[in-house]
Amino acid sequence: MIAYDPFSDDVMRDPWPFYAELRRDSPVHYVEKYDTWFLSRFEDIRRCTTEDVFTAERGVTPEMVLLKQPPPPEPVFSMLDMPRQRDYRRMLAPPYGRNAVARLEPRVRALVRERLAPLAERGRLDVYEDLADPVATALIGELIGLPADEAMPLRRHVARFFARKPGQVGTSEENEASRIALMTRLGELIAARRAAGDDGGDDHLSVMLRTPVEGRPMTDGEILAAVYTLLVTGAEVVPLSVANTIYYLAAHPDQRAAVIADPAAVAHAYDESLRFDQPTNLLGRFVRDPVTIRGRKLEPGQGVMFLWASGNRDEEEFPKADVFDVTRRPKRTLSFGHGAHKCIGEHLGKLEGRVLLEELLAVAPDYEIDASGVRRAYGEFLHGYERMPIEFARASLGESRG
Ligand code: HEM
Repeated sequence: MIAYDPFSDDVMRDPWPFYAELRRDSPVHYVEKYDTWFLSRFEDIRRCTTEDVFTAERGVTPEMVLLKQPPPPEPVFSMLDMPRQRDYRRMLAPPYGRNAVARLEPRVRALVRERLAPLAERGRLDVYEDLADPVATALIGELIGLPADEAMPLRRHVARFFARKPGQVGTSEENEASRIALMTRLGELIAARRAAGDDGGDDHLSVMLRTPVEGRPMTDGEILAAVYTLLVTGAEVVPLSVANTIYYLAAHPDQRAAVIADPAAVAHAYDESLRFDQPTNLLGRFVRDPVTIRGRKLEPGQGVMFLWASGNRDEEEFPKADVFDVTRRPKRTLSFGHGAHKCIGEHLGKLEGRVLLEELLAVAPDYEIDASGVRRAYGEFLHGYERMPIEFARASLGESRG
């Protein structure tokens, strides 16, 4: 019997042997304790994200699908099915289109350089904490329309909300306290913006305050739910995947040398780190109509989890899937999901990752990881390195770069 439990300490620390076993022996795997099916193969996951026999409206996170925690009372676009989801995605999508994101590149680069200049002079920085996290947070804060000095304190609440202790299943009182602090402050900021009136801006808050969804204006609660989702999704994943890339390049010196010699390879290295160590480990849905997958019958009301990180290691899709290889050019991956809920921030996430790595590798091509300070995120959902201290020859970036 496969001892897979996404909340177990073993799985949180090292899910890969479990995923390999699931793909091989039980690709449509039922865990009675959670009344939930776990899909581990690339093709099954990809196909199921487009099937309307599943619903996102009863929740998508492990707490909701596995522990049956009810979804928030206000509709959140990431937990709405089509066609209800359409108005929200349409309203929120414009800044994330390919061309809009390309226009953001100078802003992203400026944010990275501003942050990097003093760190370069020290010859030491934490890739996650000092660089990627503040940059990703500042950027999503600007897109949402949060005051600049509020974004990082709000982001810290998010981090404390996701932090898990060994043995912890689901959220703790501490996690919930952070969520409440976050929601309270966001609520105050939204109320203040509504009171100030429409300023004609194109940040998410301005747009949400003036754009009807489902035929009526959004309530403060709905705006709050959307802002929360954007803040979490926009800030959490990029820093993990940038730190991961730095880690895996250091572990493969020949690939690292090739990437440093050819900056055009940086984007591929980032993509490969997303495939190899997918930070958004798993998300799910509930079964709405009966469906049979590989002979297993899924019943309405049961949960189904998409093990994205496992699909991205599926040998049937990726030859030598367990090998980190920046020369791969996969036609498709599950890094950003698939189907109606496919990541809205794919182009932005890729831009941020590429620019952060380009700038960092230009300043610190000789970097060495201080292994004593490396820390991996611990939890059922987010995976990857959340502390990645490096040392390198000090550099002065001068004013012309800024
Ligand atoms: C490299 C970075 C990123 C990765 C690996 C990633 C991954 C994912 C995945 C796997 C999903 C699918 C969820 C599902 O099907 O239930 C998703 C959804 C989403 N992502 Fe990302 N994401 C990244 C960056 C971003 C950024 C920068 C934003 C900016 C706002 C963002 C916003 C969202 C939103 C709003 C959704 C929900 C979409 C919906 O349900 O309609 N993501 N992401």
